Amino acid sequence: MSTAQLGTAELRARPLPSLAKFRGRDFVSDQDFTCEELLELIHLAVVLKELWARKPVTPFLLGKHLGMIFEDPSTRTRISFETGMVELGGHAVYLRPGEMHLPARESIADTARVLSRFLHCIEARTHTVAVLRELAQYATVPVINGEAGDYDHPIQSVSDALTILEYDGRLEGATMAFLGNGDCMCNSVIMTFSLLGMNVNVATPPHFPFRDEIRAVAERNCAAYGTRLLVTDDPVEAVRDADYVYTSLWWWEDSEEYVAEIRRKNRTFQVNAELWSLTKPGALFMHCLPAVRGDEVTDEIIDGPASMVWDMAENRKHLQKAVLLALVGIDELPGDPDLQKIGRALLS
Ligand code: CP
Repeated sequence: MSTAQLGTAELRARPLPSLAKFRGRDFVSDQDFTCEELLELIHLAVVLKELWARKPVTPFLLGKHLGMIFEDPSTRTRISFETGMVELGGHAVYLRPGEMHLPARESIADTARVLSRFLHCIEARTHTVAVLRELAQYATVPVINGEAGDYDHPIQSVSDALTILEYDGRLEGATMAFLGNGDCMCNSVIMTFSLLGMNVNVATPPHFPFRDEIRAVAERNCAAYGTRLLVTDDPVEAVRDADYVYTSLWWWEDSEEYVAEIRRKNRTFQVNAELWSLTKPGALFMHCLPAVRGDEVTDEIIDGPASMVWDMAENRKHLQKAVLLALVGIDELPGDPDLQKIGRALLS
């Protein structure tokens, strides 16, 4: 049985795969990993989460430092990386442009070179994916995408796959629907879940379609699995056969005029009780948060029995701990017997 068909209980019972192959790699795009590799990182997250429940501090990364660059504000990404790194025995430094020389007085390349002399990993939330890619090009330590505003948010969508496995134990062959603007979260839902073997339905409003290059990625992934990409501007068509219904913010620090306009144009894309009555029985609701209640989703859905959102938020930390640990790696087997199963996998 493929790992994409296993729930977290089965994953916990399986031996961890060899993880040394991840050491030194970047996590700028999840499309740089195979489906099996993403599932291996999720498997590590499942084991780390189980260990965390009885042992909150597991010092695999003692003496290691994570730099966290945030060009945009964050609640979940910042707190989950920072607490996750501390739970791994390491230290995290919050780096805010304007409080460092980037971008006005020091280039991205020079910043990457200097940070690499102090840090063992760099997480960055940038306005553009071009900045992330340039950081990764010049850094000699792994770079993790904490959201590229104009392109993708893969650490969120891969974390969401962990949450799906916890709820349902099934990715391969299940159907994900995304409703809303063709923005970075839409892009990541499409790319990640098509790579993980799911059917993907996308309903974007005509004024905010997703990019053709994302469609090409998804079509390639779907062709590899024999799965389906459905692209529509009809939210009802998108949700009808979906096991999961995902939405995200409609606006972000925009003018009052823009917000009023987007509310009018996106009205039929709101995930509310009326739309939910047309979903498949047992469908689950997903949102990366933050949510604007009353815009893209109503209270009865986000607070209702089908909502996965609070588990999705928590799982950011567990998945990111797995990514940090796999990318930074360890040099020797930890002395603590509780850490040795993971330690052996990291070294093999
Ligand atoms: N979902 C997410 O990335 O949340 P933050 O913007 O709070 O980090």
